[in-house]
Amino acid sequence: MVEQPLQDPTPLKHNYIPKQITNREREQSELSNVLPEGSAQNLFIHGSRGTGKTHLTHLTLEETADEVNKCYIPCDGHDTQYKALKQIYRNLSNEEIGDGYHTSDLQRKVVEKTQAVDTLIVLDEVDFLLLNDGNDLLYFLSRMETRGNTGLILISSNHEELKNQVEERTYSSLQPRRIGFEPYTAEEAYEILVARARKSLKPQSLQKAALTYIASTTQNITSGLYWLKHAAETTDSIITESHVQQVQETAFEKYAGHQLNNFSEDHRLLYQAVQELETERENEIRTGMIYDRYQELCQTYNENTLSKRRLSDFLKHLELLNLIESQYHYGGSKGKTREISICHR
Ligand SMILES: Nc1ncnc2c1ncn2[C@@H]1O[C@H](COP(=O)(O)OP(=O)(O)OP(=O)(O)O)[C@@H](O)[C@H]1O
Ligand SMILES: [Mg+2]
Repeated sequence: MVEQPLQDPTPLKHNYIPKQITNREREQSELSNVLPEGSAQNLFIHGSRGTGKTHLTHLTLEETADEVNKCYIPCDGHDTQYKALKQIYRNLSNEEIGDGYHTSDLQRKVVEKTQAVDTLIVLDEVDFLLLNDGNDLLYFLSRMETRGNTGLILISSNHEELKNQVEERTYSSLQPRRIGFEPYTAEEAYEILVARARKSLKPQSLQKAALTYIASTTQNITSGLYWLKHAAETTDSIITESHVQQVQETAFEKYAGHQLNNFSEDHRLLYQAVQELETERENEIRTGMIYDRYQELCQTYNENTLSKRRLSDFLKHLELLNLIESQYHYGGSKGKTREISICHR
């Protein structure tokens, strides 16, 4: 009898946190030392997409003593000092807060809430904050009078070091300890994915070659999970290597959709513009062409178009999400030019 392989979709979701983690013992023990007795530390975590940075940080927060005040801020959605401070305050106080405050009021409130209580503040996807006035927020947090009992964890997928991303005085007052998350090998990615598959799929419903294909194509575990889940949802028999290959492109689109979830319709249209141009053209894609195509798409969907300045910020967001890549060329008759391509895994 033919049967759908999916038994329980939950373990294949990207935000499911299994207690058992694989191959990250060193990083886990370094993270657990963020609040040693006496003085809090600052950590800077770097690793490419889907290497377990967020997952391990959440586990660390869960394992940190209940008395510690914990605060997790996803900076892709809170990408200015003002938005991040508001969210930090909301987390620390469990109170909603209006828009009438000045930045310095919010800073004062955060200091009040961190007095006499150990606090951990995580700024995940910190690169989005650093595109704006993130430096000022980091400077404030690293200098506030309660810094001795407030540990910061900054997480980046794009910059290996924080040093060149912030002002010198900010860096020297933060003095972050760096933890690098190396990309997984294909074997490690397989091990992580197979553990999730065992919890989620019916026995004997996944061909080993199918999972080997996924794990050797992408070591971004989130992308791999989207792929496996999509493959399971689109067959009524066992998941084979050829089925996995067939759904590769649509599965990646699902992952890209997930990455764009917290972003605007204009981000999605810009991404669609790059995708369309890439399928149609053999030669390089330049920003001007993307803006033109984006405008056409806006007309089709009856959307108002944004200025080039805003679009250029939004393209930068797609780049930080690792959905597109930019290559810069210097010299030649046109001076500096930028060539854009889609990342496919
Ligand atoms: N060592 C591991 N053991 C078990 N599961 C893991 C491990 N590493 C990553 N995962 C799983 O992979 C997925 C991606 O992990 P996570 O979201 O932490 O990655 P990330 O490095 O934060 O990625 P991004 O940069 O895209 O935010 C999650 O579902 C997580 O549970
Ligand atoms: Mg993450």
